[in-house]
Amino acid sequence: MKICHTKQELRTTLTELRRTGSIGLVPTMGYLHDGHMSLVQHALQENDHTVASIFVNPTQFGNADDLTNYPRALEDDLPLLREAGVAAVFTPTPDIMYHDAAQTIVETTDLANKLLGALRPGHFRGVATVVTKLFNLFQPDRAYFGEKDYQQLAVIRTMVRDLDIPVIVRGVPTVRHDDGLAMSSRNSRLSPDARAAAPILHQACLAAQDRMADRPSAEELSQFIHDMIGTEPLADVQSVDIRNAETLEPINGPITQPAVILLAITFDPVLLIDQFVITPN
Ligand code: PAJ
Repeated sequence: MKICHTKQELRTTLTELRRTGSIGLVPTMGYLHDGHMSLVQHALQENDHTVASIFVNPTQFGNADDLTNYPRALEDDLPLLREAGVAAVFTPTPDIMYHDAAQTIVETTDLANKLLGALRPGHFRGVATVVTKLFNLFQPDRAYFGEKDYQQLAVIRTMVRDLDIPVIVRGVPTVRHDDGLAMSSRNSRLSPDARAAAPILHQACLAAQDRMADRPSAEELSQFIHDMIGTEPLADVQSVDIRNAETLEPINGPITQPAVILLAITFDPVLLIDQFVITPN
């Protein structure tokens, strides 16, 4: 596995790889777990070469503490990628990734500012800009993103559509621990008590799916989830949203089409997000 620190090394490596087939890209911020590795497995199945990036992108963090505390473990990540069969990984520093005088941004103006974007202003602009840069640097045939970050996936699909970026975007289902908690690098920052309480997110979604038999309105279902998560004293509910699964537009009244439950819950100081697609009975 080739480890590329600079854009030049990456370009040279990719030119070589591209001669012998298609390229699948898995962008990450590292501290890899089975969720990330599931993206790698999907990429390996569909492409001749799988490549990855590990870059904790400063422009998508609203607060300096969150960026400093973001877990990092490059020495563990690289062997995982190598053993899986990844051909090359790009591990730039912020100085290498961004020009000193950078002034260009990419923003999905509507999608970036609602839901999680309203809780974390500027976050999706940072994501869209860095992912555009990664698409330009790697020029992959396909790129893989988790459904866990549902709004992020929607932002990336929208930006690829609107800017005619020549890449196929694939969404990969959320990988969970046995107790239902979605795997996330942030889980390592939960206290033991918070970790024990955190499966309530997924339990509430499963209970909501059961409630669909009663044909609740979106408002009723959202209140039900809010109340259930609220029974957990350590959970601070930031938002519970039930939206059209494709457009992420709000649903008023009965849920007649596939809908997605989007959760943002803080277990101080860690923000956990999760998603679950529900279908009307
Ligand atoms: P990161 O949080 O490292 O996640 C990298 C990719 O792994 C994302 O596409 C995310 O949705 C996916 N992922 C994380 N947990 C998952 C799980 N439990 N199951 C399935 N997929 C999972 O998301 C980012 O990094 C960044 O915003 C990035 C896209 C790299 C841009 O900086």
